[in-house]
Amino acid sequence: MARQVFDVSPVLVMWVLLLNLCLFFPNKASSAQLRQNYYANTCPNVEKIVRGVVTQKFQQTFVTVPGTLRLFFHDCFVQGCDASVMIASTSSNTAEKDNPINLSLAGDGFDTVIKAKAAVDATSGCTNKVSCADILAMAARDVVALAGGPSFAVELGRLDGLSSTSSSVNGNLPLPTFDLDKLTSMFASHGLSQNDMIALSGAHSVGFSHCNQFANRIYSYSTKSQVDPSINKSYVGQLQSMCPKNVDPRIAINMDPNTPRTFDNMYYKNLQQGEGLFTSDQVLYTDTRSRPTVNLWASNPTSFNNAFAAAMINLGRVGVKTGSQGNIRRDCSVFNS
Ligand code: HEM
Ligand SMILES: *[C@@H]1O[C@H](CO)[C@@H](O)[C@H](O)[C@H]1NC(C)=O
Ligand SMILES: *[C@@H]1O[C@H](CO)[C@@H](O)[C@H](O)[C@H]1NC(C)=O
Repeated sequence: MARQVFDVSPVLVMWVLLLNLCLFFPNKASSAQLRQNYYANTCPNVEKIVRGVVTQKFQQTFVTVPGTLRLFFHDCFVQGCDASVMIASTSSNTAEKDNPINLSLAGDGFDTVIKAKAAVDATSGCTNKVSCADILAMAARDVVALAGGPSFAVELGRLDGLSSTSSSVNGNLPLPTFDLDKLTSMFASHGLSQNDMIALSGAHSVGFSHCNQFANRIYSYSTKSQVDPSINKSYVGQLQSMCPKNVDPRIAINMDPNTPRTFDNMYYKNLQQGEGLFTSDQVLYTDTRSRPTVNLWASNPTSFNNAFAAAMINLGRVGVKTGSQGNIRRDCSVFNS
């Protein structure tokens, strides 16, 4: 038995090793296709065109920022960064965006991508050359910079996915009740590190949350205590007054109580004060394993900006579709017929 192993040719062994590498690191293998300036020959001004539309939309409404950023995150975590989140439901298929776990994705995020796609397609030479997935990745990069966050070079070359189902969302997105281990393993399942997770959570420096997402922390935390002991006492008071019991479920509040319209490192300073909105936010400080990173980024905005930019690039590589796995959609919300 053992003898046979020694008879295998070294060339075959090499091939088996290579094949194994490809199977174990599928993200890495496909992300190799992504690169900066991917459209240099087909649509050289694409980044300028997208930035122009995003800037115009940003001037109309700030919700563009959190809406687009969260859309990118959810797109990448469900079936990879392939614009599957953009697909509208039909009579025969409930799409990702309508999963009942209530993504409550802001319409302005979708609108930003659709407007940018229209502007790209209206440019001679660019028509049907740029994927919706890449437009979303560019727009997510642009909104962060517009709100005062870091700017970085975006990698492109994603194709748009060929499927979008409500059921594919289940188990692929983190919940606001998650503890550190659950957050870390959820991000690891998408090929992202704990550092990436802590950095990307800084996106909660902008945007809104509906009251039901954290009601458990301010009213019925456990049978022993009415309030989550890790929340700052005066912050609880503010939250209770903005989100009384039986509040209109459409009411949403700022996730960063201090600088809600600036993409900055205030998120981490808030955590140090017990002002993280969700359990999944505050736990990054209460858990001593992630606290040093929170403290670092609370005191060093440059270090946070660098980590966030790097983590966004990693997020953009998740489950990228290439070759026959995708195409370039004509309408971002409908599969090509
Ligand atoms: C770490 C685990 C995460 C959890 C548990 C989580 C959970 C949530 C929840 C529950 C909301 C409120 C939704 C609502 O009530 O409408 C929210 C909002 C938001 N999340 Fe996260 N999130 C996480 C990570 C991220 C990441 C990685 C990003 C982007 C890089 C992100 C970006 C946003 C933004 C921008 C909003 C505001 C959306 C808006 O104002 O329309 N989140 N998140
Ligand atoms: C989900 O959103 C719909 C309306 O968009 C609302 O009627 C429903 O109560 C929400 N479900 C949960 C669990 O929040
Ligand atoms: C609660 O927040 C206030 C105001 O931000 C701050 O002065 C105080 O130190 C915080 N308390 C705790 C326990 O973090």
